[in-house]
Amino acid sequence: KMETFVNSLLKKMTLEEKLGQLTLFSSSWDITGPITNNNYVEDVMKGKVGAIFNAYSADFTLRLQKENMENTRLGIPLLFGYDVIHGHWTTFPIPLAESCSWDLDWIEKSARIAAIEATSEGLHWTFAPMVDIARDPRWGRIAEGAGEDVFLGCEIAKARVHGFQGDDLSLDNTMLACAKHYAAYGVAQAGRDYHTVDVSNRELWNTYMPPFKAALNAGVATFMTSFNELDGTPCTGNDYLLDDVLRKQWGFDGFVVTDYTSIMEMTEHGNVKDEKEAGEVAINAGVDMDMQSGIFNDYLPQSVKEGKVLESRINTAVIQILKMKYRLGLFEDPYRYSNVKRAKKTLMKPEFIKASRELAKRSIVLLKNDKQILPLKKDIKKLALIGPYVKNRRDLVGTWSGAGKWEKAVTVMEGIEKAVSKKTEILYAEGSKLFGEDKSGFAEAVATANQADAVVLLVGEPHDWSGEAASRTELELPGVQPELVKAIVETGKPVIMVMMNGRPLTIDWEAANVPAIVEAWHLGVQAGPAIADVLFGDYNPSAKLTVTFPRSVGQIPIYYNMKHTGRPMNPDQKFTSKYLDSPNTPLYPFGFGLSYTTFEYSDIKLDTQEMGVNDYITAKINVKNTGNFDGEEIVQLYIQDLVGSVTRPVKELKHFKKVFIAKGESVDLEFKISAEDLAFYRKDMSYGVEAGDFKLFIGTNSDDLKETHFTLTQTAPLAEK
Ligand code: IFM
Repeated sequence: KMETFVNSLLKKMTLEEKLGQLTLFSSSWDITGPITNNNYVEDVMKGKVGAIFNAYSADFTLRLQKENMENTRLGIPLLFGYDVIHGHWTTFPIPLAESCSWDLDWIEKSARIAAIEATSEGLHWTFAPMVDIARDPRWGRIAEGAGEDVFLGCEIAKARVHGFQGDDLSLDNTMLACAKHYAAYGVAQAGRDYHTVDVSNRELWNTYMPPFKAALNAGVATFMTSFNELDGTPCTGNDYLLDDVLRKQWGFDGFVVTDYTSIMEMTEHGNVKDEKEAGEVAINAGVDMDMQSGIFNDYLPQSVKEGKVLESRINTAVIQILKMKYRLGLFEDPYRYSNVKRAKKTLMKPEFIKASRELAKRSIVLLKNDKQILPLKKDIKKLALIGPYVKNRRDLVGTWSGAGKWEKAVTVMEGIEKAVSKKTEILYAEGSKLFGEDKSGFAEAVATANQADAVVLLVGEPHDWSGEAASRTELELPGVQPELVKAIVETGKPVIMVMMNGRPLTIDWEAANVPAIVEAWHLGVQAGPAIADVLFGDYNPSAKLTVTFPRSVGQIPIYYNMKHTGRPMNPDQKFTSKYLDSPNTPLYPFGFGLSYTTFEYSDIKLDTQEMGVNDYITAKINVKNTGNFDGEEIVQLYIQDLVGSVTRPVKELKHFKKVFIAKGESVDLEFKISAEDLAFYRKDMSYGVEAGDFKLFIGTNSDDLKETHFTLTQTAPLAEK
């Protein structure tokens, strides 16, 4: 039925109307690039626009849809897109923070709630999830992904796609998701956003492509090209990525949109001579929708005349887009998502706010807790709250929170005031701003700390210091905050440093000198209560880092699954792979995070030491809660392939389980290892496994693991996941 409808509509369309369907313009809110189109409403009415982004609110989308339906010849409904990245009105933790929960159900729920809110404002399509693996914290967009690991990245990509799209796109509370930025955007040289990418084909396939494939397997409706080049061809004009791989090899059946003006930007990259050629290269490579540059509209009629672009290629793109509009039910009722009454009832519902707090507390990573200074007692006599984040509301919601109601965010001060007993006296000093050189608040901050029984020091990055176009070369706490931390630590008071930031920071000094450190990230509207939940022990922290914390910028890139090198580090030999001025090891490894309780791991038991390609091995381990609190543990399983036809990483995450264990109790856990867990792109780039010996590790983080080994007896190709 859909095919017939779409094909008969296509037959009625002029070339100009077809190109209009391939054009996406911003409604001029939330601009993130050089081009704006102030005439977008006029263009809509002329049938030159098929989709609009950055327009939300039930009212506004309703009005715009009406203009479109009533003025265009064929009345093809507009598609409304937006960056619904971590919540809509109800902001959730930034995606990097959410990933630290390793809690796929909660991550999916967060995307589901975002979709419920966003669709009530007339939105049909989110430009999320970002599934770029990111290993360079200088790159601000690390905040938007799931961290550095491929396996976890794939699991989270699936959860997010499913959260946004649900099981049925025809429901009016599900929306199209978009796997972005295809591909290897996170490999920008030196962490500078939009910069050149130069990555080997093997690394591309082993590390950067799998999350896109996982999103596709989960049914993602759209893909967004990335700004960067890949092997000399910008991804927006990359026929290998878009046609050979995405369409032909993977069978993608949705549509591909560019990232902003990336068609136009090919003229800057220098692979085309002008905008017209850029349009031709993009559409011929496999781009279906032009975001914001208007190049398809402006130039493709001439290109078709000249035979440089076939109308059949344009037809294919139009069909993909119309099909999505059809699946969303827009041809039945173009206004079905823009419902003012529904929006009023839906946005920031108490249950959504509660969910945001739940996920926020699950995203907080406890990095250090000397002498069990945490959790704090709720009846502590005098508690000093110091730092630029104590009363800060604006920055709590983090990057990409355009529609997020930061005004409704609950500050840390408010969260803590509610948590402590009536007898507790809360002292406050701002100490410094988030950035800038002003130290005039230090004296008051020190005096305040001196009067207190304990100090919670709330520091971090502004919300717009991560995200797009927010790269940094230094990763210390911004401004004079490092000095503020030193001044407060020098008071000798028990200090708990809580950080709110969008990327790993270099906190070598703080890690050595501050008694307790909590990585809270940008947690969203419920940051204050969630932080209080953790500080006072109402929630026992369970999150673990999904990205390595370097000691210094000089160590970057640093991630847990590196290769060995031919001269692995040996402190006693000069000519080995190491630094003169720093250990090789990170400050905090991937998978690291403390709890208020302690967990003890038994040795690993395997049911057999040998497996063939069609078998699996069962690994068993017992984990005991040996401390004084109930708690959750994220049990991680890694594998190392000892010898390969090409070099293999020192270890790779292959499974994990998040389990609740009451104090004094223990759980028996079982993991099944199949050939799929051992597969990789081999010397000849075929996907498969190679016979040989493997190490298997299970433990509490990538650096603290029990170990055993087994043998795979066969070499064989495998179908790609
Ligand atoms: O979706 C984003 C993308 O991630 C970065 N450039 C702008 C797009 C639309 O806002």
